[in-house]
Amino acid sequence: MPWRSTGIALETLPAGAKREVLIEGATVLVVRVGPSVFAVDGICTHQGGLLVDGTLENERIICPSHGAVFDTATGGVLADPDGVVPPQGLATPLAKYATKVDHGMVWVELP
Ligand code: FES
Repeated sequence: MPWRSTGIALETLPAGAKREVLIEGATVLVVRVGPSVFAVDGICTHQGGLLVDGTLENERIICPSHGAVFDTATGGVLADPDGVVPPQGLATPLAKYATKVDHGMVWVELP
């Protein structure tokens, strides 16, 4: 699986920050959670909300459209739209991308 640079320098992504990048047709959400960097698909699986416009709380990203909650560490669904817990399947897991930092830049592994 190919590694692709996000063009994001780690030093410009402080803890709690999120950024959206387009890589080979994929919309990728890159987030910094403490010392970790996670990457998931940036489009909500419910109705296409842009997750970069959502709220990041630790590793949880809350969709700005209807409030589904995803775990950026795993891509898993933590809550359906309107915060329904346990999730009932209205939102499905996000694609998760492996990340690495090389020469100070954030890279993601695309399928
Ligand atoms: S589009 Fe994200 S919760 Fe509906």
